Amino acid sequence: MSDSNNFARTILTSALPYANGHIHLGHIAGAYLPADVYVRYKRLRGDAALYICGSDEYGVPITLTALKEGVTPQDVIDRYHAANTEAFARVGISFDLYGRTSWPLHTETTQAFFLKLHEGGHIEKQEMELWYSEKTDRFLPDRYVQGTCPKCGFEEATGDECEQCGAQYSAHDLVDPRANIPGDNSTPILKMTTHWFLKLQDFTDRLQEWLDRHPEWRPTVRGITQGWVNELRARCITRDTDWGVPIPLDDPDAEGKRFYVWFDNAIGYVTNTRQWGIDTGRGDDAWEPWWKSNDTRLLHFIGKDNVPFHTVLFPTYLMGQDDYILADNVIANEYLNVLNRTTGKTEKGSKSKGNMISVRWFADKFSTDAIRYYICAIMPETKDAAFDWDEFQNRYNGELCDVVGNFVHRSLTMTVKNFESAVPAQGELDNEDRALLDSLPEQLDGVAEALDEFRFRLALERVIDIGRKANVYFNGKEPWVTRKTDLERTGTTLYVCCQVVRALCTALAPFVPDGAQRLAGTLGVTLPEGGPDGGDDAWGPAKAGMEAGAPLQKPEVLFPKLDPDYIAECAEAHASGGAT
Ligand code: MF3
Ligand code: ZN
Repeated sequence: MSDSNNFARTILTSALPYANGHIHLGHIAGAYLPADVYVRYKRLRGDAALYICGSDEYGVPITLTALKEGVTPQDVIDRYHAANTEAFARVGISFDLYGRTSWPLHTETTQAFFLKLHEGGHIEKQEMELWYSEKTDRFLPDRYVQGTCPKCGFEEATGDECEQCGAQYSAHDLVDPRANIPGDNSTPILKMTTHWFLKLQDFTDRLQEWLDRHPEWRPTVRGITQGWVNELRARCITRDTDWGVPIPLDDPDAEGKRFYVWFDNAIGYVTNTRQWGIDTGRGDDAWEPWWKSNDTRLLHFIGKDNVPFHTVLFPTYLMGQDDYILADNVIANEYLNVLNRTTGKTEKGSKSKGNMISVRWFADKFSTDAIRYYICAIMPETKDAAFDWDEFQNRYNGELCDVVGNFVHRSLTMTVKNFESAVPAQGELDNEDRALLDSLPEQLDGVAEALDEFRFRLALERVIDIGRKANVYFNGKEPWVTRKTDLERTGTTLYVCCQVVRALCTALAPFVPDGAQRLAGTLGVTLPEGGPDGGDDAWGPAKAGMEAGAPLQKPEVLFPKLDPDYIAECAEAHASGGAT
């Protein structure tokens, strides 16, 4: 089990989403919100942390979109890169850099990776038969050809892989193939061609050793990885396309071919770290410690479908470079489905059903805090979860607003009103006061512990629990009654409450950063955000609390409640396919 304290810095990556569509809540739940909560927590602790992501801009689906729309692939990626950059910002995903794989720097990085693998003898050329359209005179990579899966009978299987059952086969096993390009659905022929393969089997021992060193990874991640490691063979890393990183070899066979998107894309993590160093004026070499130093902790946050790419393929590219570190953990979430209100059944999010909820649509209608709270509360960490409008309303209103927001509000309102807008003096503490005060460091530690184990739902439950316990205390002390009879006692009660509010302010910050910042303003405290260079620990001071006499602002409602009629209206728009 690795201890995060053994590392001097942490680099976090979230899967690079394709610039081929609008990101939706499933993306957020899978790879972005968990990473963002974690990096915000690390920054609060003053740990050096760098969060890298960007658009994945090559690959056949993007050229298909361009063909269908009659625009260029560049038009497609420009549109979605801009849209997704904005969508991430609107839910508070705090990347240090959101890059692009179409950058020239990425071409350079990818080609250098390949050449090093080539020099190391890990690349081989292979002749193979692939589907070819005589009608349009071209090979049909990936989704450019469709047919029936030889294993499960799915009719929209692609050249060498079935999306439905996950089977992989060689092209000639595809049943009833047809071209799948606008203007061409002819029956293709098999034609010989040459491609470049990466000999994954060269890395079996090192992959196994690495996997064995990480029993703490989630069981699904370990299981999928072990399955792959058991049968590694050479894998094709080039495609017949002109949309991708060029192959840097002086070889006539390279003509009309580019790297496969799943070769270049993860290397984008490195490219984007390089670009971050340049953009922030740290220099051309600033990226190196983040990728080459043994005291750096590399964490990948991804959806489950991306596991083998991050636990097998990308690590082999890194191993082939000699001096790169490997991930310390790969945190993969399961899927976020959608509850259909009419049928009461859970559905997979799908483009054809139109049931997906895009971030741009959702963030127009709800606050960043409400979105983050609910998605984190149901995060599909160990099993699938489903987006459910009623649950969204109930959990946000019933937990964040009624438990935490309400406690904070009544504590601060009463304090401001009766104690001249300052934290009251602490009088004599009774057992209840002491018990609550003493429990705060432990409660914060409990949140931290859950976050350190990437158990985000549990961590958030523990935050709400701080509010729950505090409400029990508040109700028992009845400060609204004692106010008339015993002001000193009331002051002590509210002093204790202010300590809890201070602790909550910090504990909420990774999850609902906007509300936490507003609360910090009311309390007159700062939540410093360390960053790549680290900084002061702001988690510790939360334990130390607020001093008597510290001035307070008049509190605003921290988390405004969701109106059921409004929810119903939005749910309806969603049900009629309007949320994409
Ligand atoms: N674009 C891929 C997807 O959406 C994810 C790529 S992750 C990468 O499934 F790191 F490998 F780029
Ligand atoms: Zn199949």
